[in-house]
Amino acid sequence: MWSGHSCPPSRLSSRLDPLESALRGPEAWPEARSTGRGQSRAGAGAGAGQGGKSGGKSARHLPVPDGPQLCLAWNRHATTIEVVQSKRILVTGGAGYIGSHTVRLLLEQGHEVTVVDNLSKGYRHNVPANILYKLNIGDTQALKELMRQVRCQAVIHFAAFISVGESMREPERYFANNVAGSLSLLTAMVETGVKHMVFSSTAAVYGDPPSSPIPETSPIQPVNPYGESKVMVETMLRWFDRIHGLTAVCLRYFNACGADPAGRLGEEHEPETHLIPLLLRAVITGRPVTVFGNDYDTPDGTCIRDYIHVNDLAQAHILALDYLLGGGVSDQFNVGTGAGHTVMAVIRAVEEVTGKKVPYVIGPRREGDPPGLVAASGKLREKLGWEPRYTDLGTIVEHAWNFARKQAAPKT
Ligand code: UFG
Repeated sequence: MWSGHSCPPSRLSSRLDPLESALRGPEAWPEARSTGRGQSRAGAGAGAGQGGKSGGKSARHLPVPDGPQLCLAWNRHATTIEVVQSKRILVTGGAGYIGSHTVRLLLEQGHEVTVVDNLSKGYRHNVPANILYKLNIGDTQALKELMRQVRCQAVIHFAAFISVGESMREPERYFANNVAGSLSLLTAMVETGVKHMVFSSTAAVYGDPPSSPIPETSPIQPVNPYGESKVMVETMLRWFDRIHGLTAVCLRYFNACGADPAGRLGEEHEPETHLIPLLLRAVITGRPVTVFGNDYDTPDGTCIRDYIHVNDLAQAHILALDYLLGGGVSDQFNVGTGAGHTVMAVIRAVEEVTGKKVPYVIGPRREGDPPGLVAASGKLREKLGWEPRYTDLGTIVEHAWNFARKQAAPKT
């Protein structure tokens, strides 16, 4: 069993959960031994000599006293070896769905990662215990102490509430957590000199757009408090850039879905509100899903969305980080495939992958739901060189199905 995170300063340790042991044992996250901050920062020598492996890549830190952390990364078959400059990245909400997939990718690429998560939605088992700090992003002082301790160069900010429907019932929680929480984080960054942020924004900033696919220049006119809360943070970021020189990339996600192809991570929202995991759950339990309206002006009357694989989304964060740390200016990018699917098309894909009928009923429209959201994704491809790997809906559903089945299986 590997040990907990490395020596926080005394004030910090009284605020943070000790996370003294990993819940799933070393086999779940072997690469953390070499790439987690505990080993690699406490003197590069401590990390040197320990190789770590994961499904795709392995990484080994090289001792470079007082210099930039260098890291050798090689693929499974050792056909390529690259020397990468290890970055020190703080990830808020890193124990959640998209956050944890991004953390895994960062670790696989040899970066030093610190995760801040209050575990209200995320799970300890999604990240190595030695990099996880249980902390609210509203605690500016604790964030400052942590940022100074880990000397992070950039922040990837995922921590937020994400449910459109819930935001229509409890807007106050969305503004408090998503907006005030982000302001606290930005304040800590300014006060500790952290100059770059990759921000989880959303296609919901466009509301009900006048045309589709939606370019980044489309009017910003959210139709629910969730989308509005993300607009407010994008606005703050513009001012923090202008006044404090803090550069940010806002990634406007379309519909994140799928799971780590190796089945180690996946979508575990509680309560679950997203379409694909709900359809898979319906197949497993036999309890019907409600389709929210079939009277929209779309080919089959159901809403159209752009379903983007979580690993492709994670990759966009890494590219955005490279861009900002390489001197790129603040910008906003859609992250979607550019292909739209109706709810009924997703149901058919689930039936094909699982070989079972999806039980469903048609219900009324869900308040705050735009009829169609499909990304124009050319800007991300052209400017940051992003290319989605999993564009086939069947493959996306298959990865989600593998994870859902594993979750539903009786634990031994
Ligand atoms: N849907 C149903 N029944 C359900 C759940 C969803 O019919 O039980 C429908 C919705 O009406 C929508 C589609 O399935 O048409 C997708 O709904 P999700 O709840 O899975 O996702 P949303 O489109 O509401 O929202 C997601 C993210 C947002 C993001 C948005 C952008 O959660 O953060 O995609 O496309 F802003």
